[in-house]
Amino acid sequence: MTKNEAKNRIAELSETIDNHNYKYYVLAQPSISDYDFDMLMNELLALEREFPELALPSSPTQRVGGDLTKEFPTIRHRYPMLSLSNSYNRDEIIEFIRRIEKTIDEPVEFVCELKFDGVSISLTYEHGILVRAVTRGDGTQGDEVTNNVKTIRTVPLKLRGDYPDFLEMRGEVIMPHDSFNKINAERDELDMPLFANPRNAAAGTIKLQDPKETARRRLDNFCYYMMMDNLPYSSHYQSLMAAKEWGFNISPHIKVCKNIDEIEDFINYWDEKRRNLPFDIDGIVIKVNSFAQHERLGMTAKSPRWAIAYKFKAEQVLTKLLSVDFQVGRHGTITPVANLEPVLLAGTTVKRATLNNADFIRQLDLHYDDMVKVEKGGEIIPKIVGIDLEKRKNDSKPVEFIKKCPECNCILTQKEGETAWYCPNSIGCPPQIKGRIEHFISRKAMNIESLGEGKVEVIFDNHLINNYADLYDLTYDQLYGLEKVETFIDESSLFPETVTRKVSFKEKTVNNILNSLKKSREVPFARVLYALGIREVGETTAKILSNEMCNIDNIINASVEDLQSINTIGPSIAQNIRDFFDDERNILIVNRLKVHGLQFSQEKKEKQDNLPLSGKTIVVSGVFANFSRDEIKQKIEELGGKNSSSISSKTDFVVAGDKMGPEKRKKAEELGIRIVDEEEFIELIS
Ligand code: IVH
Repeated sequence: MTKNEAKNRIAELSETIDNHNYKYYVLAQPSISDYDFDMLMNELLALEREFPELALPSSPTQRVGGDLTKEFPTIRHRYPMLSLSNSYNRDEIIEFIRRIEKTIDEPVEFVCELKFDGVSISLTYEHGILVRAVTRGDGTQGDEVTNNVKTIRTVPLKLRGDYPDFLEMRGEVIMPHDSFNKINAERDELDMPLFANPRNAAAGTIKLQDPKETARRRLDNFCYYMMMDNLPYSSHYQSLMAAKEWGFNISPHIKVCKNIDEIEDFINYWDEKRRNLPFDIDGIVIKVNSFAQHERLGMTAKSPRWAIAYKFKAEQVLTKLLSVDFQVGRHGTITPVANLEPVLLAGTTVKRATLNNADFIRQLDLHYDDMVKVEKGGEIIPKIVGIDLEKRKNDSKPVEFIKKCPECNCILTQKEGETAWYCPNSIGCPPQIKGRIEHFISRKAMNIESLGEGKVEVIFDNHLINNYADLYDLTYDQLYGLEKVETFIDESSLFPETVTRKVSFKEKTVNNILNSLKKSREVPFARVLYALGIREVGETTAKILSNEMCNIDNIINASVEDLQSINTIGPSIAQNIRDFFDDERNILIVNRLKVHGLQFSQEKKEKQDNLPLSGKTIVVSGVFANFSRDEIKQKIEELGGKNSSSISSKTDFVVAGDKMGPEKRKKAEELGIRIVDEEEFIELIS
């Protein structure tokens, strides 16, 4: 094929594929079989491989995902990305309307829309071509994630019809339930941490460095707001209808409402019907329709005065309690978990719910076969919030907490003042041993990735390790040939599948393990201290301890009082540290790790007193729209603040996201501690 022929064929194929794509994903009217579509795509891929210089900037092959993204450049938004103020009941909406009517003395129309629960995105089009996709970030600037966004089938790469030269669309990137369930099932098989909800999964997926993986995870997008200088439309509704013509995915569930009753009907309808949607919504957005009225209403520092979000209450369902499992954690804590008759809740099937501890079961007065009310918060495992006593059978038996460890049969004990029950056999109880080793190798501890994905379990089950110091004595011959069941993703087709097979540790695996163990000797002291797995010594405490005490011997020899004299280390943590090092077996393990060359000392870092959060103790709670909790904590540390997990009189303020624990909120309010939300925190640190 000549270059000219290739150019024409590439243009033709790009357009044909783009049209099929639009019909399939945006209009939901497939016009070609999957096989024929794949054939066209393969032809285009092959041509672009042969003539890379001819590939169009809006080529549909970008949907499959291209090269790795090294870093996501920070981009300043042309128009700031605001958020919406929230409301939770009819009165708050009436108040919103009343405020509007105070400023606007003519009839006001409202547009009611679904509030998609994902991550907001800004899409910039120049001459009809998608040139940039940027996350919200702090509202002023965000990360450029264009290559990942191009893999989303409902985001037009090229506009159709009579579009303007420059256009910015705002919308939400969401992960539909189907994709979410599939990915979590895969992650479960691979022993990877599960995503708590589709929103977190979408946030994680949009920031992946590998666009091929983003493509595989099948995100979706809805657009809900147009930004442009000199908009040629007089209303929001009109602008959305125009956007639909240009190829954007605009939700069909939009309604123009004239009064509170119509708005309320829309809310009530979707509060019920959201269960049938294939993705999560967390509320309804109510916007004033007229752009002229938007102008007159203006904005506050954070949000427009012409729009408000109505947030739904968490969904609940009733299902049957089948049995109770008692799980043993790495510190020996016994956690009861309810096995439930599988039931659909907020788009995902729920089979288990946490029962917290013995007191929780007693307070609920839980019986086997009870019909329990289950609610999903921000976590993966839902909560049981009540029992339908009318449905209880007369002869049903109460759930009793166990007396012996389900794994090693040891009699359980309780610590003074604590509600949890423990298995005291820390040295001989398998899940505790495995749990400690898993923690030791985890990413934030020693980060020995090559031992992940169930390999520790295989090595332990073959009686080669009994504690984490044993890892460093492992030899090539011991590891070679060990067998494990592995689940992997077959990448050989355009739409890869998950496959299970038995694999033995080969030369490469074994060498990787031995090399990464060797490399872990460079891990700094603070992380080694965290890796030891001392109860209540999290990453932050380990950092503070290592900086204050400088080496392990100072910590080993410190009294409870010495330890408590360090700011943020309370009596309970101090006692746990003392208990850990009072156990000779732990000293032996630490000595062996010392012999293997792990870092057990560090230079004292001088404190910087002039940083914005210097001297501040901060508690972070809840789920955040733009950051993970860890990112917020890291920011606090970078700016000189100290993170603490519990609220006390020493707390300076709490950074509260969505779904902050009610207990924490109550305590903060009781102690008069300032609670700042995500937006305020961003303002505070900028
Ligand atoms: S309008 C100025 N419409 O909810 C316009 N937002 O805090 C602001 N969201 O950050 C957004 N569905 O990520 C709008 N139909 C919808 C929405 C929506 C979801 C998100 C958006 C925003 C957050 C509100």
